[in-house]
Amino acid sequence: MTREEKIGQMVQLAGEFYKEEDSENTGPMHEMNMSAEKMTTIGSVLGISGAQTLITIQKEHLAKSRLGIPLLFMADVIHGYRTIFPISLGMACTWNPDLIEESAVIAAKEAAVSGLHVTFAPMVDLVRDARWGRVMEATGEDPYLNQLYARAFVRGYQGKNLAIDTLRIAACIKHFAGYGAPVAGREYNTVELSERTLRDMYLPAYQAGIDEGSKLVMTAFNSLDGVPATANKSLMREMLRKELGFEGVLISDWASVGEMIPHGIAENLKEAGELAIEAGVDIEMMTGAYLNYLSELVDEGKVAESMIDEAVFRILTLKNELGLFENPYRGANSTEEKTIVFSSEHREKAREIAEESIVLLKNKEQVLPLTVHQKVALIVHEGQAKDVLGAWSWKGQQEESVSLYEGLLQHIPKEAIVLKTFVNGQTELDEDWLTDVDVIVAAIGESSYMSGEGASRSNIKLPSEQIQLIKELRTLNKPLVVTLFNGRPLDLTDIVQDVDSMLEAWFPGTEAGSAVANVLYGKKNPSGKLTMSFPKAVGQVPLYYNQDNTGRPLTALNQDDKYLSRYLDVDNSPLFPFGYGLSYTYFKYSPMQVTLTKSKKNQTDEVQIKLKITNSGKFAGTEVVQLYIRDKVGKVVRPIKELKRFKKVSLEPSESIVISFSLSEQDFEYVHQDFSVSVESGEFELMIGPNSEEVETNTVYLAFKRSE
Ligand code: BGC
Repeated sequence: MTREEKIGQMVQLAGEFYKEEDSENTGPMHEMNMSAEKMTTIGSVLGISGAQTLITIQKEHLAKSRLGIPLLFMADVIHGYRTIFPISLGMACTWNPDLIEESAVIAAKEAAVSGLHVTFAPMVDLVRDARWGRVMEATGEDPYLNQLYARAFVRGYQGKNLAIDTLRIAACIKHFAGYGAPVAGREYNTVELSERTLRDMYLPAYQAGIDEGSKLVMTAFNSLDGVPATANKSLMREMLRKELGFEGVLISDWASVGEMIPHGIAENLKEAGELAIEAGVDIEMMTGAYLNYLSELVDEGKVAESMIDEAVFRILTLKNELGLFENPYRGANSTEEKTIVFSSEHREKAREIAEESIVLLKNKEQVLPLTVHQKVALIVHEGQAKDVLGAWSWKGQQEESVSLYEGLLQHIPKEAIVLKTFVNGQTELDEDWLTDVDVIVAAIGESSYMSGEGASRSNIKLPSEQIQLIKELRTLNKPLVVTLFNGRPLDLTDIVQDVDSMLEAWFPGTEAGSAVANVLYGKKNPSGKLTMSFPKAVGQVPLYYNQDNTGRPLTALNQDDKYLSRYLDVDNSPLFPFGYGLSYTYFKYSPMQVTLTKSKKNQTDEVQIKLKITNSGKFAGTEVVQLYIRDKVGKVVRPIKELKRFKKVSLEPSESIVISFSLSEQDFEYVHQDFSVSVESGEFELMIGPNSEEVETNTVYLAFKRSE
């Protein structure tokens, strides 16, 4: 390969470059100083799909490329391709990694048959700040759950052998590292994170995705310890490559190489390119630093040609692993595309996952489930009835999705629904339509524009006109049910007292209305549990259950003391904690039985925990039983709770099940000040419950040897 041909492989262009009207004199090609000749060397393209389109682009590219190296097609297939699943934060509330894996299998299948090879997913960034709009793309605030989900996504997208299984696609873990912790929840902002916290809380999910074999990793936009991730040599070459053992392709985020200039660490694009290759970025997405300056940098002796070789080797390895050299069109098939994409089977799975992701936040007087004999007043925002897909639903079509009104029609006739729309809180509520209505269902929340990338909010309440609407509906003295469609934990304090029942539906995807209606009518008993805490006020944010204790903790016993770690105007606890979610039935937890045993391997203590769960209510239901620990005395301050295990169990009324958990030394280990990972013998609290707050606690002394 010539040097130009090698550099071409390291450049990723947007689909616009392949549109007929683009030329060297106008449009994106002109802006990037691209020539028709250089286009023949390009390695990958993003954000374009469709079997016929990509087959044509590939064919033309191969005809022009001297070496016949196929293009890689990549895109953001985040929670579904055309069949849209709930947003990732919603899917996380299923506490069901198998379902997440299934969603990724389907997303991969639809994407692959439409010609794609790589998805920029999963985003495995740990998140704690609900102001940040991108929490919708994350799986929440817990490192243990995030690890399970990272693995499930990667398994689902990639399968076992990408060369053979042409209906799977390569995954890309993102955004390395720490993108989920922008200061003040402001998108693209600086990240201030101690290395110990990064290692303890944030790295596990990246590591899990890499261990599962993710073929790519994407760099983050943010700076970490003062250096933008894309230029961060120690982060990429030491931590990612050497420590986490990543051997695949490292791709920059969109224009993040060029953004080193506004960051203020490169004077121009040439310097930015030098920093990126030094850091080990293999593919540059959408700025022309590599394309225009890499060769010059080698000539000037600033960049070793071996660095280019190394990057190209990894890119070609990926193409080879995808089987592109044998079959450059891979899964792309315009006939099968028609039957596979948005198939009824896929929609069925999307409905099932959406149902499991819904979280019942409140159910006073058991207003839910509704019965089919009730007359329902349905209040929806005029323009948002079909705005149910969420911000990352690239190929999803709103008009193909099921609105809540259509969902209700699957249970009750048209005559039993009074549909009222509101805009800016205005609706005609004072007519006689209300007289024979039995229950009001109000669909409120955020528009999909209000969360996702570039959608931070300093106010995470509902829009004020919606709060007003709920207050007015309350005065009507009818049972009032709220279904929330939104992409982040909201501050719901303004309405929580006014409503009888409240369902958090997130952006449920294509089958939104069917899923929510099935839950409203009890065809599906809700079982979702939050994976991000809901605050009582935005001022509490970042708010997360696995926080460290302070030297002056607020407890039930010292509420009147001022000089504690607290606020004067709101308490420290969330409105709805991590792990929280109700059911139409009730679950009784027996006291836990704890037994200590010795590990066969090294004779250190292991813990076995057993308890009985009984469905004591009237409906069949599913419960997520959660096990947390607390290390009472560590070498560094340890979180007040850490999720270590959970079990999701389904029980008929009056049915019981005995469940057991076991933990060994490794489960108690943590990152020390010198970044070593171990744990000391001592007292540990074991906590079991239906969420992170309502727990039964048992304290045990555990003797560990490994670290002593
Ligand atoms: C996002 C990435 C995404 C990329 C390509 C960026 O703005 O941060 O997560 O994969 O665009 O669309």
